[in-house]
Amino acid sequence: MTAIPPTATSTGQPDLEALWLPFTHNRHFKQHPRMVSGAEGMYYTTPDGRRVLDGLSGLWCCNAGHRHPRIVEAVKAQLDELDYAVAFQVHHPKAFALANALTTAAPGDLNHVFFTNSGSEAVDTALKMALAYHKARGDGARYRLIGRAKGYHGVGFGGISVGGMSANRRAFASALLPGVDHLPHTHNLEHMAFSDGQPAWGAHLADELENIVALHDASTIAAVIVEPMQGSAGVIVPPQGYLERLRAICDKHGILLIFDEVITGFGRIGELFSPTRLGVMPDILTFAKGITSGMVPLGGALVRDHVYQAFMHGPEHLVEFFHGYTYSGHPLACAAGLAALEVYRDEDLFARARRLEPLLAEAVHSLRGEANVIDIRNFGLAAAVELAPRADGVSLRAMEVFDRCFEQGLMLRYTGDILALGPAATASEDELGIMVDTLRAALRAVR
Ligand SMILES: Cc1ncc(COP(=O)(O)O)c(C=O)c1O
Repeated sequence: MTAIPPTATSTGQPDLEALWLPFTHNRHFKQHPRMVSGAEGMYYTTPDGRRVLDGLSGLWCCNAGHRHPRIVEAVKAQLDELDYAVAFQVHHPKAFALANALTTAAPGDLNHVFFTNSGSEAVDTALKMALAYHKARGDGARYRLIGRAKGYHGVGFGGISVGGMSANRRAFASALLPGVDHLPHTHNLEHMAFSDGQPAWGAHLADELENIVALHDASTIAAVIVEPMQGSAGVIVPPQGYLERLRAICDKHGILLIFDEVITGFGRIGELFSPTRLGVMPDILTFAKGITSGMVPLGGALVRDHVYQAFMHGPEHLVEFFHGYTYSGHPLACAAGLAALEVYRDEDLFARARRLEPLLAEAVHSLRGEANVIDIRNFGLAAAVELAPRADGVSLRAMEVFDRCFEQGLMLRYTGDILALGPAATASEDELGIMVDTLRAALRAVR
């Protein structure tokens, strides 16, 4: 019989070998482990008792800070009530309560929501919805999906196919979805370096969609998916007028527009979702992360009426959409989601994010002129500082800055040579200042 050994937890340094860490240089990490063992508000604590200011809201998810007491309380109470409810053919009231709260608050007629557990699943759900939507309407020849260079849509096969970060695709090229094309990205240092907010240059890059349509014919294209602001690739802010043009071209050709708001949702850009700020409505909107302020995994896809209604035909005893997860709308996640929405509302955190936005912008742009800084950009509570790569290897300089910041008590993130900051909406003005000062000192210390 299998013997489960005693499960040691927090005493001393655990053996690091068994765990294969995600998106991590495992061999380097295991020689230089970085651990956090506690968190509260804006700070992590390390196992040796150091406090680390969280400059990235977890991984862009703890938008109301860590362990918000009201969300903690709601999750604890849920554990005493219902642990798991069957997700298929049976359900539980809190999932409906959260769906109603979300669709009521969401802009326009995003009146229906499908729950998943993560952003990757939300994206694959949205892509499948788009394909099935056209099929349900008798337009099943629309099978192509259009993503964008530098896009990040999680790690499912759908998400990496429409995604445009080459490192995430390279090893899986043989298994990517067929019929996918990509728009060009909008990042251009020559025309938009050091932009504060939406760059004035670049709307015309959306017109490339017309070329893709001309190449493949509109009748074969199901959907276009973009992040309104590209987060993981390093805070690439949409040029003024760009999303409007994408929307207009999609409308002209009967193509669905999907916004992946896994990062931009729940206050990151000072609103619940981007249409309220940027004025462009998608047909499907994916979310995750901030919905529970990172406390319990939860994601989903919000859809407009015409998308949902396209499925609601045929015999009523038949399943309309053959898709779903064991943990779709898990009770703990829904309890956390409901409490997080209340926190966002009662503490007016989206408005607070908007008030902090110019302060973060001013602080981060004060790094202009520091050695090796070739761009600084920002939108909402998201900012990136791009460094010139070092001759001995891409990302080494940013990695060193990241390491130094962590040693000095600041958590941020780097991708390639881009450093990203994404503080929670609960950050104080002083904390924003500390983040940028710590980063400045690290930039000055590296070669
Ligand atoms: C825009 C976007 N989509 C999807 C994902 C994937 O989410 P998850 O890691 O929860 O699967 C992310 C994660 O950062 C993201 O930024």
